[in-house]
Amino acid sequence: MIGSDKIHKIPYGGDYNPEQWPEEVWEEDMRLFHLAGVDTVTLNVFSWASLQPDENVYDFERLDKIMDLMRKNHLQVCLGTSTAAHPAWMARKYPDILRTDETGMKRRFGARHNSCPNSPTYRKYSVMLCKAIAERYRNFDNIVAWHVSNEYGGACYCENCAAAFRVWLRKKYKTIEALNDAWNTSFWGHTFYDFEEIVPADLRSEEFRYDFDGRIRTNFQGISLDYMRFTSDSMLECFVLERDALKEITPQIPVTTNFMGWFKGLDYFKWAKEMDFVSWDNYPEWDSLPSHPAAFHDVVRGMKDGMPFSLMEQSPSVSNWHPYCRLKRPGVMRLLSYQAIAHGADTVMFFQMRRSIGACEKYHGALIDHVGTEHTRVFKEMQELGAELQKIGDATLGTRTHAKVAIVFDWENWWAAEMSAGPTVLINYYEEVMSYYTALFNQNIPVDFIRTDSDLTTYDLVIAPLLYMNRNGYDEKVRNYVRNGGCYLTTYFSGYVDENDKVLPGGYPGKQKDILGIWVEESDAVPPGMENSFIYKGTKYPAGVLCDLLHLEGAQEISTYESDFYAGWPVLTKNKFGDGTVYYVGTRSSAEFYATFLRDLCESLFIEPVLNAPLDVEVRCREDHEYRYLFILNHKDSETEVRLKKEGTDILTDLHYGAGDSVKLPAKGVSIIRVRYGA
Ligand code: GLA
Ligand code: ZN
Repeated sequence: MIGSDKIHKIPYGGDYNPEQWPEEVWEEDMRLFHLAGVDTVTLNVFSWASLQPDENVYDFERLDKIMDLMRKNHLQVCLGTSTAAHPAWMARKYPDILRTDETGMKRRFGARHNSCPNSPTYRKYSVMLCKAIAERYRNFDNIVAWHVSNEYGGACYCENCAAAFRVWLRKKYKTIEALNDAWNTSFWGHTFYDFEEIVPADLRSEEFRYDFDGRIRTNFQGISLDYMRFTSDSMLECFVLERDALKEITPQIPVTTNFMGWFKGLDYFKWAKEMDFVSWDNYPEWDSLPSHPAAFHDVVRGMKDGMPFSLMEQSPSVSNWHPYCRLKRPGVMRLLSYQAIAHGADTVMFFQMRRSIGACEKYHGALIDHVGTEHTRVFKEMQELGAELQKIGDATLGTRTHAKVAIVFDWENWWAAEMSAGPTVLINYYEEVMSYYTALFNQNIPVDFIRTDSDLTTYDLVIAPLLYMNRNGYDEKVRNYVRNGGCYLTTYFSGYVDENDKVLPGGYPGKQKDILGIWVEESDAVPPGMENSFIYKGTKYPAGVLCDLLHLEGAQEISTYESDFYAGWPVLTKNKFGDGTVYYVGTRSSAEFYATFLRDLCESLFIEPVLNAPLDVEVRCREDHEYRYLFILNHKDSETEVRLKKEGTDILTDLHYGAGDSVKLPAKGVSIIRVRYGA
């Protein structure tokens, strides 16, 4: 959809499963779609079994009818390849397609996202199916994207995967000596003499369930990390095989697969490089903070260096798999849709169009409920949003966001930091990142999420919370950035290890010591219920999770610990390095601290909010060379007001505002103010 020249407004619609319904229902669906302003459907996501009843037969009769119906009704199609769940006959005939779990248990047929990524059967038949679908529908000019498989995830530990892992390792390390060195196998006498001795890291080998919290841990971080990389790569290979098959036949149609938000298992940054555009499925809990989906929108935008992305799924109301199917309150579906657009989405898509009547998603939200009519609250809200998106037309399509602050995020670091045995089970990368993000979010300061290989130079402030793994060359990039005047902030448990989780010797934080101007001698884990504290600008803040005991080696202290045997030791430091400045936060503190500290930091760097607005009133900006679009999003349950700096027009209501005028918004209300450049 993104990148397709057929798109002239924000695509609106979502997953549609007519194959689950008798044909009489389809015409009624068409009437309801038109009523709701739905113009795009995602089809054929789980139809492998019906498309391929046996090894040598494809049956497209039903899909042909569906595709014709879509074309007749001027609906755009995001066409699934159906490879996220294999047919039962295939599992029976070719059991290699079934996964083996981390306990060694061979799975039987069932569920979905269930194929072994290294199964020759899976790879062969998924690609054949893609080709058959692409050949069949290549002349349908209403196909706006290919939707490969669905929400890749999980892992497999079967013999095919074990063999493929060894091939992957040979390619990576070339020699067994290099592998032994990387994994530090002289520990516990684990030296390997032959690649063939290596087996996947699972509960039968290096991994174990930790009694303390029931989570899986490992004895050897090196092999476990590589197995995670290998798993991510194996599934990516499956994606690439399908993508290439599609591209051969329909090179002009963009290809994507839908991501799952903060999903730890796959290195989405690496995946995004192989995709024409990125799409993701946003399912916040009823009590998620507004910063939660906002942050992942920003991560997704960062995957392709700021290119607009697709909101591929969200629920019109409830998600059956949440523990409490609390209804999205009136206005919330609309608000979250505009939040996605505000952060760079160019589509608003849902799961699902019609609620199924059987199996586990029968109580998942849908445009058309079991009652089957348009007379529901959810339908009306979607109909209103559909009309608004028609009014917006192409105004915001392709516009970009600009941020002066970047947060570094890294999947491999996420794996390594939380897989480390010690220093505390409370290490939580996501929480740490979100603490910094939320402080900026609440101040309406836009943030880009960037990768460790991204360019830093366009940012005034780069924040790298808990960046435990120092990727090859990363410290040198930071060194150059700061030397040339950049401002860098990092935290406890950063820069300790190389890419194999091997400690960089010479004192923590390894290669970053000179940049930070400190040496962390020890770190004290703080058990739950206990805390140290420090004073910043007259206010006392907690210090928990980990308290670094650090020496100043050029840096200045901003604050020190209040208690315990390290009372008086620095906890916050500032270092001048070249023309730039580096801050270090040697512990975990509270939201209040991050809010204050980051406000001060942004002020000192003249980084301003998009607009000043009350807490929980979000303001974001997308722009092109002619206009800036200010999205004002009221997440509060009460009305609010925001003052504009420049004159502009609300593109939803056509109301004009002068410079200094206030925009009034009801609870959960949205305004999109178009401001002309130079106004
Ligand atoms: C995911 C899947 C969909 C559906 C929804 C339900 O996002 O991609 O197929 O199961 O969840 O929330
Ligand atoms: Zn496998």
